[in-house]
Formats: sequence, structure tokens, C-alpha cells
Amino acid sequence: VHTIGVLTSGGDAPGMNAAIRAAVRRGLQKGVTVKGILKGFDGLMNDEIIDLSAKDVSDTIERGGTILYTARCAEMRTLEGQKRAAEVCKKNGIDGLVVIGGDGSFAGAQKLAEQGINAIGIPGTIDLDIACTEYTIGFDTAVNTAMEAIDKVRDTSTSHERCSIIEVMGRNAGYIALWCGIANGAEDILLPEKYDYDEQKIIENIIENRRKGKKHHIIVNAEGIGHSTSMARRIEAATGIETRATILGHMQRGGSPTCKDRVYASIMGAYAVDLLISGKTNRVVGYKNGEYVDFDINEALAMTKTIPEYQYEIARALSYNYSK
Ligand code: F6P
Repeated sequence: VHTIGVLTSGGDAPGMNAAIRAAVRRGLQKGVTVKGILKGFDGLMNDEIIDLSAKDVSDTIERGGTILYTARCAEMRTLEGQKRAAEVCKKNGIDGLVVIGGDGSFAGAQKLAEQGINAIGIPGTIDLDIACTEYTIGFDTAVNTAMEAIDKVRDTSTSHERCSIIEVMGRNAGYIALWCGIANGAEDILLPEKYDYDEQKIIENIIENRRKGKKHHIIVNAEGIGHSTSMARRIEAATGIETRATILGHMQRGGSPTCKDRVYASIMGAYAVDLLISGKTNRVVGYKNGEYVDFDINEALAMTKTIPEYQYEIARALSYNYSK
């Protein structure tokens, strides 16, 4: 490999800059030219490509967002778009691509591979919803941001003796909700993977807890379930307890990455470049059982994952409602 292109695609995630920085510096150290592709696959199709030196990635490891910008690119799902993207790579001499993003971005990378461009995926998403890996860049920062926000909502919720529904991100996955549910000691955790919740039961719990003197009732709701505002109205009407919904939204995607996100993202960025240099083709980097690993991109995309039963059971067991 002579020239590596790096892009970020899909929703941004804190730690992406650490991965970009690592890819650039590892590539340069190994004698490879590194180019940054702006705005994901969209920018690739429009030939928005810059040279990257070691200095260009200075002072980026601590920054949230992505210095390369990002986009969700519908055109990459068309054969025409895929051909165009591969042509631009070839025109720029890019013979290896590092794609930092989620499953959708890996699907784009896989299509580029079919067009003859070797691509390596790095899992970058706050949702933790990539099956081949136990770690995705940005989850740790996002879940810490959400945890701190929920602590704050809880202060005011207690003062006003309210019930609070806090909606966290995660698309169709409930990992942020599960982790916050445990970390914030939520009374209820609603996950899309466990869509068996009984609103009547929650209402009974709220009334019962209030009777026992509990001042707040925190419900962490995953965005994959959603409808937090209407849920709050129904709960308030049924319990007579003031209920507010707080949707944390995009604040969960921003901010300076945690130490874990900086370190894991750095290693994954370098690992992806090492794969390209060693001649491996069409891989996805992952973290499993304490090791950095890589999988064939097609195999990675075919894997599935869901919320670990035991973690969910313990989350419920530790909540006030169910702990008696
Ligand atoms: O995939 C990351 C994520 O933040 C999801 O949690 C959320 O569903 C989605 O992206 C929001 O996307 P957008 O930024 O396009 O509104």
C-alpha cells in the first residue's frame, strides 16, 4: 500500500479524532502517504481530499467531533455512487481506505472493496451496536455524558418530588440506556430489545414508591422506544405525580473523549493501518475478550448481538422497585 485514505462516516463519536491521528501517524511512520477524505463518502464522491501531515493532527486527540467532518451518504447505496467513489480513490492514488463509522459505513466499505479498493473498518459509534466488537469509539464518552446529565436531572426531580423520564440515544440499541440505568440507579430502564414493559406496572411502582417515601422516580428510556413526552403525560395523569420528560439528544455525541475512548481509538487507528500494510484486505477492527482483533468485513456485517440477559437481569434486580 502506498497511499491510505481516512474518512469518518455516519454519526460522529468522541474519539474519532484519536483514531484519525493514530492512522495518520502510524502510516507516516511506516512510510505511507496519508490523505484525509472530508465529509465521509459524500466528500469522497466530490473529491474533497486533503493531504495530512503529522502536524495536521496535533492537538486533536482531546477534541470531540471529527476534524474530517462526516455525513450519511445515500448515494453510496447505489452502484453508480460506489463506482464513482472507487474512481476518485484511484485518481488520488488511494489504494487503502480506513473507514471509521458504524454498520452503515462498513456496508459502504464493503461495496468499495467490491470495486477493488481495499477498505478497513473501525467501529465508531456511540450506540455500541456493532456485533463483532465489545467496544465502539465514543460509547464510553457518551454514556458518561448521559450519566452526568441524568444525575443533574435527578437533583431537580428529587427537589420537586417528581417522576422523570430521561431519553437517551442509541438508535435501535439499548446499551446507553442499560448502562445509565445501572450507573444512575434508575427505578426503571426501558430498552428496545426488551420491549416487554408494562406501563401499568410502572405506574403502580411509582405510586407504591411514593407511598414508601421515595422522592423521585427515574425512568431511563431508550430512544428506540421513544415517546417520552406522551409517556410522561400518561404517567402524570395516572399517578397524580408531576412527571417531566428530558430528551438528552445530541449533547451525548459531543465533548472531549474519555481516556478509554482516546486510548482504544488510538490503538484501533494504528491497527487498521498495520492491517493495510501487512496486506490484509477488507477487514473490520474489533475488541473482544481483552484483545484487539479483526474480522472479514462480510462476516462482521453478518454477525448479530443483543443486550446480555444477565446484565439486564441485574439492572432490574438492583433497582428499588424490584429489590424487595
Ligand atoms: O448512531 C448515532 C446516533 O446518535 C444514534 O444514537 C441516533 O439515533 C442517531 O445517530 C441520530 O442521528 P442524527 O444525528 O442524524 O440525528
